[in-house]
Amino acid sequence: MDYVAEIKRLKDKLPVTVVGHFYQRDEVFEMADITGDSLELARKCKADNNPWVVFCGVGFMGQSVKVIAPEKRVLMPKIACCAMARMIDSSYFDDSVNYMVERGIPKEDILPITYINSDATVKAKVGEMGGMVCTSSNAYKIIEKGLQSGKKILFVPDRCLGQNFANSMGLKSCVIGEGECDPKEADIICFNGFCSVHQLFTLDDIKFYRERYPDILIAVHPECDPKVVEASDFVGSTSQLIKYVNGLSPDQKVAVGTEYNLVNRMRSNGNTFVLSSTKPECPTMNETTIEDLYLTLKSIEDNSPINEIFVDENTIKYANLALERMLEIN
Ligand code: 13P
Ligand code: SF4
Repeated sequence: MDYVAEIKRLKDKLPVTVVGHFYQRDEVFEMADITGDSLELARKCKADNNPWVVFCGVGFMGQSVKVIAPEKRVLMPKIACCAMARMIDSSYFDDSVNYMVERGIPKEDILPITYINSDATVKAKVGEMGGMVCTSSNAYKIIEKGLQSGKKILFVPDRCLGQNFANSMGLKSCVIGEGECDPKEADIICFNGFCSVHQLFTLDDIKFYRERYPDILIAVHPECDPKVVEASDFVGSTSQLIKYVNGLSPDQKVAVGTEYNLVNRMRSNGNTFVLSSTKPECPTMNETTIEDLYLTLKSIEDNSPINEIFVDENTIKYANLALERMLEIN
């Protein structure tokens, strides 16, 4: 079957928008009407008029569209779960709040911020406590806003993102379960989650490229380890990394520390490298195939939609608060 032709036919016929994150396989990514980093995808989906969304990405992304635009029918060709988002659920969130309360911080003095890579139930807990969502492209702004409340920040689930932004803002951070984490001594208290893909980039990789090409630049995603971020020349979200690399002169070499599919799609003149000796693909992002995309669109045409995202009303209500607070700040 010619999937590309069939997908184009279905997109022309149906009131549907196909959304694709940068980490999708090339053949899937090329079919998307909307692309971007997590923040851009949330914003663009909210502004889009089609009643149907087919989201090629990971579960929390499709869920976020359902939360900010509950009237839309959201389908995912694969409901693949981001490994980091899986590291925390609402009971681990409650445990983290209790950890701080037991160490002398009253609950009303805690402001939770969740990275968008989390389940809607965690976002709902955060929203209920007056907290916000952030993404890799707006974390600085959101944390800055959070600090204005005078409360202690509980940052979930990515310890690296929490630590990296604390470092860039000159704040003290600690990680629950890692050494002595005294919430009274820190400004940002991080949950101990991480991205297994971005943990693959190491100081040895940076050393390797700097020794081989002394003028090379190193650009990484803020989900990388704080030591790696500190040794790099640029840190940014997926969109910010693309903009940075596109702005370099063609002969400037750069090694990029983020997911393979995206880096492989960057400048094709031999001067862009993946900052790793391995092939750092996100396994769950890679689950979606062009056939899955076709079958999902076809299910709309056949009036029997598959893999629809549902979020219960109460979760939508509070998760929406946390997401809208973020969108307002932007
Ligand atoms: P971005 O928001 O930068 O696209 O990141 C999403 C993600 O999951 C990175 O691993
Ligand atoms: Fe999740 Fe990491 Fe994959 Fe991003 S790269 S979707 S954080 S597992």
